[in-house]
Amino acid sequence: MTTDYLAIRQSLAADPHRPRYHFLAPSNWLNDPNGLIHWQGTHHLFYQHNPLAAVWGKIHWGHAASADLVHWRDLPIALTPGPEDYDADGCWSGCAVDDGGTPTLIYTGWRDKAETVCVATGSPDLTVWEKDPRNPVIAGPPEGLKTTGFRDPYVWREHDEWRMVIGSGFLGQGGAALLYRSPDLRAWEYLGPLFVSDTSAYEDMWECPCLFPLGDQHVLVVSLCGGHGVLYFVGEYTGERFIPARQGVVDGGAQFFAPQVWRDAAGRHLMIGWLWEGRSEAQQRAAGWAGVMSLPRVLSLTDDGALAETFAPELATLRGEHQRIVGLDIAPGLVAKLPVTGSHLEFLAEFAGGEAAAYGLQVRGAADGSEATRIGYDAAAQELFIDARHAEAPARRHRRPFALAEGEPLRLHVFIDGSVIEVCANARSCLSARVYPRADSVGVGAFAQGGPARMPTLDVWEVAGVWD
Ligand code: FRU
Repeated sequence: MTTDYLAIRQSLAADPHRPRYHFLAPSNWLNDPNGLIHWQGTHHLFYQHNPLAAVWGKIHWGHAASADLVHWRDLPIALTPGPEDYDADGCWSGCAVDDGGTPTLIYTGWRDKAETVCVATGSPDLTVWEKDPRNPVIAGPPEGLKTTGFRDPYVWREHDEWRMVIGSGFLGQGGAALLYRSPDLRAWEYLGPLFVSDTSAYEDMWECPCLFPLGDQHVLVVSLCGGHGVLYFVGEYTGERFIPARQGVVDGGAQFFAPQVWRDAAGRHLMIGWLWEGRSEAQQRAAGWAGVMSLPRVLSLTDDGALAETFAPELATLRGEHQRIVGLDIAPGLVAKLPVTGSHLEFLAEFAGGEAAAYGLQVRGAADGSEATRIGYDAAAQELFIDARHAEAPARRHRRPFALAEGEPLRLHVFIDGSVIEVCANARSCLSARVYPRADSVGVGAFAQGGPARMPTLDVWEVAGVWD
C-alpha cells in the first residue's frame, strides 16, 4: 500500500503555525536531518522521525528528495527499528555515502541504551533499504574508554579509504569526536580522538559531528548534548587530529540543533539543521506535527577565517508579489508601521544605525500591540537578536554575537513562515527562532531605540508554499 503523503500534508495545511516552505514531516515528529546526499542530481534528505506521534520516540528514518533544494517529494520511510536486536529501539542519526555506486547509510543502532554503528544499502532509486547482515559493524565505543555516548557517525572518502567521526565525550572533561577508518564501511579501526574539548562548559557529550574541508581549512561542527547549542571550529585536520584555530556559534537560536553538512555537484557545502518546537507536548500532539528543518544554507569562510552562512539562492524561485519601501526614517522608541502584512514572507532590509542602540524589523505584530517579534541588532552588545513575545509560548530572546565593521550597514535577510523565523545578517551570520503568534498578528514595522535609525531600502516578497 502506498501512503498518500500529499493528502496527509493537506489535512494539516490549515494550521497557521505550520510552515509552508520549510521542510517538515508529512505529519508527526521530526528531529535531526540525516543522510544528506546529492545523488545523481537529486538531493536526498533523511530525517529522525516518529511516524506514530508528534513527540519523540521509536525513531525511524523518514525520507524526501528534491531536485532544486526548495520543493521536496516525500518518499517511503527508509529505516524502521528492528526486527533484529541491535536497532530495535530506534534508528538514530547518521549519514549517507556513495559506495562505488551503491547508496549506503551509516547510522546509530539504539537498543536498551546501547549505541552501535550499523549499515544499510539502498536500491538504485534509494527507496528500498536493506540492513547489512554484519550489523552492528561497530558494537560500541573503543575498549577501555569511559565515554559519555557513542553516536551519529559521519563518513567521508579520504584517499583510498573511508573515514568516520562519531559523537562522544569524557565525563568531567568535555565533548569529543572519535576518528575511525575502514576499507569497506564494515571493518572499522579506531584511530583515536580526533578532537577533545578542553572544557566541559561545552558539554561532556557532542552529538552529530560533521568534519569537512572549506577553503584551505577544515571545519568541525558539533551539537552540544541536551540541546545546548551548535558550535563550529575552524582549523587544521592532520589526518589523525584536528587542531582548531578559531571557533564560533553556528546559529544562536535556542531551538536550532543537529545540523548536517553535505556537498552538491557544484562543490558547495550546504547545511540544514533541525528547529524544534517551543511549546508543550500536549500542544504538539494537538497540532499533529512537531519539528521543522531550517532552510538550506551555503557555507563559506570569511576573510578572517570565521564560518559564514547564507540562504541558498534557489529560495528566490519562491518569490511572489513584491513590495519596495525606500528612505524610511525611524524615530527612537517608536515602531514605524509599514504597509505590508503577512506570515509567509521574505525580507531584504538595509539599515543605517546612526546613534541608535538597537534597530531592526518587527514582524508578526498584533494590531492592538499585544504581541510582536523583533529582529534586530544591539549595537552596544554587538549582538544579532530575535526577541519573541507571543501569547502561546514563553517570551524568548534568541541572540548571537555579531559585529558590524566601522561604517558597515546592517543588511537583514529574513524569512518568516508560520511559526519559523530565520535571519541572515550581512550574508554571514544566521539566527533562527520559533514563534507562535495569533493568526491575525501579521503586522510589519521597523523600530529604533536610543536614537534614530534609517532604512534606505526594504524589499518584501510573498513566499509561495512548496506543497500547494
Ligand atoms: C540529536 C540526537 C542524536 C541522536 C538522535 C536521536 O538530536 O539526540 O544524538 O542520534 O537525536 O533521535
